[in-house]
Amino acid sequence: MIQVAVMGYGTVGSGVVEVIEKNKEEINKKSGEDIEIKYILDLREFPGDPYENKVVHDVEQILNDQDVKIICETMGGIKPAYDFTKRALLAGKSVCTSNKELVATHGPELIRIAHENKCNYLFEASVGGGIPIIRPLNYSLTAEKVDAITGILNGTTNYILSKMEKEGAGFEETLKEAQEKGYAERNPEADVEGYDACRKIAILSSLMCGKNVKYQDIYTEGITKITEADFVYAHACGKTIKLLARSWEDKDGSFYAMVAPFMISKTHPLFMVNGVFNAVCVHGNMLGDSMYYGRGAGKLPTASAVVSDVVDCARHIGKVIMCFWDAEDVALTGIEEAKRRFFVRVSTEKESKALQVFEQASVIEADVPGEFAFITEEMTEKEFNKKAEETGIISRIRIEE
Ligand code: HSE
Repeated sequence: MIQVAVMGYGTVGSGVVEVIEKNKEEINKKSGEDIEIKYILDLREFPGDPYENKVVHDVEQILNDQDVKIICETMGGIKPAYDFTKRALLAGKSVCTSNKELVATHGPELIRIAHENKCNYLFEASVGGGIPIIRPLNYSLTAEKVDAITGILNGTTNYILSKMEKEGAGFEETLKEAQEKGYAERNPEADVEGYDACRKIAILSSLMCGKNVKYQDIYTEGITKITEADFVYAHACGKTIKLLARSWEDKDGSFYAMVAPFMISKTHPLFMVNGVFNAVCVHGNMLGDSMYYGRGAGKLPTASAVVSDVVDCARHIGKVIMCFWDAEDVALTGIEEAKRRFFVRVSTEKESKALQVFEQASVIEADVPGEFAFITEEMTEKEFNKKAEETGIISRIRIEE
């Protein structure tokens, strides 16, 4: 029997309890031992809940109980999750988490503490919800040099962009509707400004290079400036717009990471990823592209990923599961050095100036009054910014080939 505690009985925490209960047989068989929930930590009472008698309010009860071997941290945020996690790991208890903020901020330290104490800090649920992506990077793609990761890592923004595309609607009205339907938070900033995707790509980028990619260093641009006219142009040239979280290593060893809206064409593997779904495309130097697709959020998908970590921890009691993520910070190359093409909108008065400054522009024919739009040739962001300033543009969207 392996005893487990759940810290935080909110959406994901209650999902963890539900998954362990519903799939008891499967989980126990795969763990090699029976998994039992001993405690649920939460500040609140849950009268009438079937697990009411397992609810405790004092973390010490869990940390001081020698029988608890695995903890699911589903509290979210840094405080007090960081302190609780650190103390649990120092006590030799493995921790499985869905807390991307904590993983992105303190991942390497918590992994090191876990390994020093012969236990594990696992975080499959922190990126892509229920999609297996951490385990493939850590275990399955070990023969590869992964040189690029491109993901749609935020369900809220993907839902909004998909809806704008389908219905020709604007950002504000689509966000409002998404909030009414419960697909977007009342405070949507972390999602729509790209901060959530930024934490997630920081985690994936760190696993890609084995060092620490600080989320604070990642260039992040959200979707708030995308308009219905952008989709009119995207359609006219057989493309769509997605919020992509990307990291890649150039042949010269430069390492880049960024989050921004990109125009992608029909042939791109992420083109068909719509609604609340997430997907991650991993490029390895031997395998080429592989893609991981599924539900990136939600109670049961996220809980399923947390419980898959519980099973892994149960199979490795007293043993370390390797994870290469050193504390050494990676010096990211500034995105101004990255080369790509750009989609550009200018007012009709600027047409000749734009064609003069951007010498090899491919014009997009679309029915947007008062505007002229085109796609540039490939150039660095630095070159583009200079030309854009000289011309005076309405907006631009990067193109991902
Ligand atoms: N707000 C996140 C999303 C939830 O929309 O994808 C999962 O991290």
